[in-house]
Amino acid sequence: MTRTVYVNGEYLPETEAKVSIFDRGFLFADAVYEVTSVLDGKLIDFEGHAVRLKRSLDELEMAEPCTKNELLDIHRKLVELNGIEEGLVYLQVSRGSDGDRDFVFPSADTKPSLVLFTQNKPGLADSPAAKKGAKIISIEDIRWGRRDIKTVQLLYPSMGKMMAKKAGCDDAWLIEDGYVTEGTSNNAYYVKDGKIVTRPLSTDILHGITRKAVLRMAAEAQMEVEERLFTIDEAKDADEAFTTSASAFVMPVVEIDGVTLGDGSPGPIAKRLREIYLDESRKAAI
Ligand code: PDD
Repeated sequence: MTRTVYVNGEYLPETEAKVSIFDRGFLFADAVYEVTSVLDGKLIDFEGHAVRLKRSLDELEMAEPCTKNELLDIHRKLVELNGIEEGLVYLQVSRGSDGDRDFVFPSADTKPSLVLFTQNKPGLADSPAAKKGAKIISIEDIRWGRRDIKTVQLLYPSMGKMMAKKAGCDDAWLIEDGYVTEGTSNNAYYVKDGKIVTRPLSTDILHGITRKAVLRMAAEAQMEVEERLFTIDEAKDADEAFTTSASAFVMPVVEIDGVTLGDGSPGPIAKRLREIYLDESRKAAI
């Protein structure tokens, strides 16, 4: 089915939507993005994604393409036009273009490019992958130092996923100075003796919208959470592990670098947090 997508003020069939070859998103990865999940035809944590988008734009001194309410309308209209019950809305804002390639930013009044499209993913919540749990490998984190800004510079994370696939695994966790930063496209956690451990927020990791919600829900459920640096060896020695992201919610991890965690099936805390997260998110969706 041909999707209807949004590009710079227009709703168009995906085959007709166009962006300039001089767009700085294309030439310099000078663009930021958000991925918002859809359950029951509604947006999960739109507010959180809108706030983070604004922060990414501000950090890069990029203009806002439109207001938050206009963004919400575009999200909702695309979900409706494409009949999405479960899936994702991808949004990208680039610095646009003044019609040539130049390392110097174009003048501040250059219009940013705004592109949104949906991805239909029936069964996203009741995912077989989450029932099985993910196998991960660890690789060196060689990304740039501002991972708190959600830019489209995703070549290395993409290569990391390919390294994992080649190793017969599902994903990779990234290691810097001996400590786990995060997953290629998710935040990373392990659980030992009932305590959830995850890296604290800084410029080293993306400030996950799902992370924030899950940590709040864990605290509300009287689970113990410790935010501190941790090594991959600690994670390998854990009772269980998991990742969080808007596209996979809470994803149990059952193997790290060939070491099986627990009995090799998703752990009770990851399963419980996934349930709570899906439940609460559905209730708060707009
Ligand atoms: N990725 N860390 C990284 C490096 C990410 O790319 C993501 C999200 C997260 C989790 O953030 P959130 O909970 O806000 O989705 C953490 C998105 C889903 C993606 O690139 O598709």
